[in-house]
Amino acid sequence: MLDFAKFTKYSKPGPRYTSYPTALEFSEAFEYNAYINKLETQDKSRPLSLYFHLPFCRNACYFCGCNVVFTSKEDKMVRYIEYLKREMKILSQHLDTSREVIQMHFGGGTPTFFTAKQLKKIINLIKSHFKNFSKEAEISCEIDPRHINEDQMKVLRRAGFNRVSFGIQDFNEKVQIAVHRVQPYDITKDAMELARKYKMRSVNVDLIYGLPYQTLETFKETLRLAVSLDPNRFAIFNYAHVPWLKKTMRKIDETTLPEPDEKLRIMQYTIDFMEKNGYKMIGMDHFAKPDDELFLAIEKGELHRNFQGYTTKGGADLIGVGLTSIGEGVDYYAQNIKVMAEYEAAIDAGKLPFERGVYLNEDDLIRQYVIMSL
Ligand SMILES: C[S@@+](CC[C@H](N)C(=O)[O-])C[C@H]1O[C@@H](n2cnc3c(N)ncnc32)[C@H](O)[C@@H]1O
Ligand code: SF4
Repeated sequence: MLDFAKFTKYSKPGPRYTSYPTALEFSEAFEYNAYINKLETQDKSRPLSLYFHLPFCRNACYFCGCNVVFTSKEDKMVRYIEYLKREMKILSQHLDTSREVIQMHFGGGTPTFFTAKQLKKIINLIKSHFKNFSKEAEISCEIDPRHINEDQMKVLRRAGFNRVSFGIQDFNEKVQIAVHRVQPYDITKDAMELARKYKMRSVNVDLIYGLPYQTLETFKETLRLAVSLDPNRFAIFNYAHVPWLKKTMRKIDETTLPEPDEKLRIMQYTIDFMEKNGYKMIGMDHFAKPDDELFLAIEKGELHRNFQGYTTKGGADLIGVGLTSIGEGVDYYAQNIKVMAEYEAAIDAGKLPFERGVYLNEDDLIRQYVIMSL
């Protein structure tokens, strides 16, 4: 049982905790040349994990804390692919791209906002730079169920993608309207069926608790519907409300957000409900079926968390490509530029679009180790 009284006093808005130190600690004190030096001196026997940020979405979900570029213009997408290509070319001057790739993730935004043909082009470009993909590589893509068709799923599968993650957030219509993301159940169900048809090894779904108008009762129904889709994994996030950082969140009427007590009740119910329905809790916000490799990894002490969530693939250097993407080495985090025009200008000048980061000293490494172990 959770000790609610203890938890409530820590209930304040804050960023999502995806690293130690968190992205808020990244600064320009970690300079370009230091980053290049880190890339050039990496231990070449360590494998690579690649993250590609594909930032486009058509409409804003008001709760969204991701780094997104809202557009409906096709030429922006075409142009972005060209810059990804150029970024990888510069990257290959500083990084040994023949190292084994054991993990790749397409995140966003909505990667499937790119057409099947465009996705194929992006993947071909990646494979022309990184030629040594492991046969066992974990290759995943974030998908908005409202933007996926069979051609796209086919391209992903043929390129070796074996995991997909669908954003659901909440099935309740009133909640969906309040957050500007109307996504009827059948749309999500169709997307799930497509993933199964193309034999994706693992399907994850994202839910969020703490959204406007959510109550324990409404969230119970969301959980029931989500479990009926039979995903392999769940990510059930606590809503990070940071309107001072994300303008679209200001469109949310704060008086409609559930109180901390209600959120805790939702969390407690969620943990019990997932256990009763055959899912095991993995770390802070993930659940997986007991036969899922994430769960097996806990027992073997091989569970890791990086910017792509929980993974069994530890010991790799993470390289971020694209606007705002984050990379992680043994003792640093590095983040790319967040503004498209500046991102392009850096690449035009023949430089990596690196903006800031943090170098971890011994004290940081100890804290990071303890937090990640917890
Ligand atoms: C890039 S989106 C997933 C793919 C796709 N764009 C979609 O929305 O379906 C990443 C996920 O982060 C979660 N997320 C976004 N903003 C959040 C916030 N402020 N607090 C907690 N989780 C958030 C959502 O669950 C979302 O599905
Ligand atoms: S939650 Fe997903 S679809 Fe919605 S704005 Fe954010 S990235 Fe785009």
